[in-house]
Amino acid sequence: MHLRKRVLVTGGAGFLGSFLCERLLEEECDVVCVDNFYTGTKRNIIHLLDNPYFELIRHDITFPLYLEVDEIYYLACPASPIHYQNDPVQTTKVNVHGSINMLGLAKRLKARILQASTSEVYGDPSIHPQTESYWGNVNCIGIRSCYDEGKRCAETLFFDYYRQHKLNIRVVRIFNTYGPRMHPNDGRVVSNFIIQALNNRDITVFGDGSQSRSFCYVDDMIDGMIRMMNGPDDFTGPVNIGNPNEFSILELAEKVIAKTGSSSKIVYHPLPEDDPLQRQPNIDLAKKQLGWEPKTQLEEGLRQTVEYFKKNF
Ligand SMILES: NC(=O)c1ccc[n+]([C@@H]2O[C@H](COP(=O)([O-])OP(=O)(O)OC[C@H]3O[C@@H](n4cnc5c(N)ncnc54)[C@H](O)[C@@H]3O)[C@@H](O)[C@H]2O)c1
Repeated sequence: MHLRKRVLVTGGAGFLGSFLCERLLEEECDVVCVDNFYTGTKRNIIHLLDNPYFELIRHDITFPLYLEVDEIYYLACPASPIHYQNDPVQTTKVNVHGSINMLGLAKRLKARILQASTSEVYGDPSIHPQTESYWGNVNCIGIRSCYDEGKRCAETLFFDYYRQHKLNIRVVRIFNTYGPRMHPNDGRVVSNFIIQALNNRDITVFGDGSQSRSFCYVDDMIDGMIRMMNGPDDFTGPVNIGNPNEFSILELAEKVIAKTGSSSKIVYHPLPEDDPLQRQPNIDLAKKQLGWEPKTQLEEGLRQTVEYFKKNF
């Protein structure tokens, strides 16, 4: 009899989590999705609810959770500044108490556990592109600190459980990812621009738009995360997963206007506090250790994302 791998996905009703649950079901896993619906929604996973190998649990992972699984993907955490700054103390709690709860669970079960960390651990970086060996430049008392320092502390906890308890950990540092099912109004740049363009409203660019970002399409990100989980036991990461192709925010705005055929105009607003001016992953390590690199370029990814927002909003 074929025994399905039992996989827990925390934050499984979110943007990335819902795609991850989908992929794991395709790979014949038995998936438990845990979410408190803080930023996630049932709509993201509604098409999975009939699948007998998919189970949904409403639970806040800052409280302990007892169940039996073989692997844990730890994605629970609001990801956009609007959401994580709405309740900054809770944001730190999700990353610190949540990590302790999930690492404790992994320890009891001897399960593999993967942390969805972030490029924000590099803060406003002084080197470009960022390699994993760079320690970062993070303000510990700013309005983004609940997220940036929360994620840094989560990485610390993962590595201490690894050293102290020999836990089988994996840490991926996720760079800007976009695609269908992004939250429609959480201020993230791709979804923001698309919604503004589809409604022919002004496109708001912060600063002069010359700050650059690299955008990874969701399918590539999920592929990287699964490869990392299934990768060699002696490769804990942290590993950067993202698309190194850089675009200025202004270029992105222009591409979105072109893709949507919108009559929107671009308007400029002041840059928010601690907003990094440049962010680009060096993905040599992921290429070497996981044989991973992104396949979907911005044009194609934007096309699919625009289609989704056209249908749904
Ligand atoms: N999308 C990106 O570009 C990006 C970049 C870097 C890191 N990440 C990380 O990837 C993960 C997923 O991000 P996303 O873009 O899918 O965000 P998202 O907000 O769509 O998903 C997060 C999910 O976690 C859930 N959640 C939040 N607090 C919880 C709690 N206490 N208990 C249970 N569930 C909780 C939310 O309801 C939501 O479903 C996050 O950890 C985020 O920090 C994402």
